[in-house]
Amino acid sequence: MENVIQYINSNLEKYIEELKDFLRIPSISSDPEKKSEMLRAAEFLMSKFSEMGFENIKILNPDEGHPVVYAEKNVDPKKPTVLFYGHYDVQPVDPIELWTSPPFEPEIRDGKIWARGATDDKGQLYTHLKSVEAFIKSGVDLPMNVKFIIEGEEEIGSPSLPKVIKANKNLLKCDVVVISDTSMYDEKTPSITYSLRGLAYFQIEITGPNRDLHSGTFGGAVMNPIQALCDLLSGMKDKNGKITIPGFYDDVLPLTKKEREGFKKLKFSEKAYMKELGVKELFGEKGYSTLERTWARPTLEINGIWGGYTGVGAKTVIPSKAYAKISMRLVPNQTPQKVEKLLKAYLSKVVPKSVTYKLETLHGGEPALTPIDNVAIKTAALAMKKAFGKEPVFIREGGSIPIVVDFGRTLKAPVVLLGFGLSTENLHSPNEHFDLNNFHRGIQCSAYFLNEFSQVK
Ligand code: BES
Ligand code: MN
Ligand code: MN
Repeated sequence: MENVIQYINSNLEKYIEELKDFLRIPSISSDPEKKSEMLRAAEFLMSKFSEMGFENIKILNPDEGHPVVYAEKNVDPKKPTVLFYGHYDVQPVDPIELWTSPPFEPEIRDGKIWARGATDDKGQLYTHLKSVEAFIKSGVDLPMNVKFIIEGEEEIGSPSLPKVIKANKNLLKCDVVVISDTSMYDEKTPSITYSLRGLAYFQIEITGPNRDLHSGTFGGAVMNPIQALCDLLSGMKDKNGKITIPGFYDDVLPLTKKEREGFKKLKFSEKAYMKELGVKELFGEKGYSTLERTWARPTLEINGIWGGYTGVGAKTVIPSKAYAKISMRLVPNQTPQKVEKLLKAYLSKVVPKSVTYKLETLHGGEPALTPIDNVAIKTAALAMKKAFGKEPVFIREGGSIPIVVDFGRTLKAPVVLLGFGLSTENLHSPNEHFDLNNFHRGIQCSAYFLNEFSQVK
């Protein structure tokens, strides 16, 4: 094992250069104009697998969606098998003017690599490719069978992947699924995430009069759709931060006493959090701490709102239409389907007759809760300790990786969420970056995991 770690340490510079090449590909999944870049990113990965002597390298969904890349390296059918999952797609870059260096021209500053996708998820995903390579290239036997499944649609809700997993159940058969697409509790504390929130995302269109109206001639006589929308949205949450949609909390799995105590022990500083975010006060559901609110309680956010006149100067107008994008983070055991039904029932009751509305469901994903009492998690904790020099903490997180549930359900394998990112690394915002020290430790951690898991399983 020492040789493998040695190999990783002396090849770090090369790994960083390769990661830069990967980061240069603008694989924004939501942008139809980037279709060819998606293929380029998939081909980049496939060429890396091919250089490592992987077998069965292919795209599992040649006919629809951005390519899902698959590759495997079999050493011995008697040895256990790990399936690594990650995503090569990234979020859009706007507002572009706020980036210090261009999003697809990776740069190293302050021991970090700066580019869109650096921490979410290209950099984290790449740790696993390089840990496997370190075994192969240093001449140490790869201790177990390795499979990779890497998608390009995670940031748009993984529309193709559930079907791909179901259709390839045998191909993907494994003893454990390892995913590095989450964060560490803080820069000093390695972490294993055991729960993620789900998501239900909607767009609402409110229509008032059949055309834009002069606000003098008609003002005071008809409901303004923007007003109706604002009333509707503000009525969805009360002043205690509780969501008012009837039935919304019915399926929410309460936090256990042990969890609440565990969260408290993390000594989360609300003061430092406020300072980092530039706010003077926090707001959330009454009766819960910030960690509880973001990790284990559902929430509703307005992601965007528009309508009427927003150009220069003034225009006296009552618009015909108003729009909003709203999303709800869900926790176990809520489901996007049930929440959609509840929202529909709510809208049919509260939207006034003076306007009409249309609701569109954009995407969703189930929350995940992964058992932590198994050898996969114990081995992951040991690997983290070896790589980071410190016991990991067990945390939940507020973000979503919709496919996690499908892996558990369809492949019946434990899922391990090994996070090497940091919540301060600007994922989804300008100046995304990834700490190179954590990149390095992440590669080591992955190598330790392969070595240890092959011995306990
Ligand atoms: N890697 C994130 C999820 C994440 C973020 C987990 C922070 C833990 C902490 C992932 O790429 C992501 O952004 N997911 C989306 C899912 C959505 C588009 C369906 C999310 O959470 O908004
Ligand atoms: Mn991600
Ligand atoms: Mn993301």
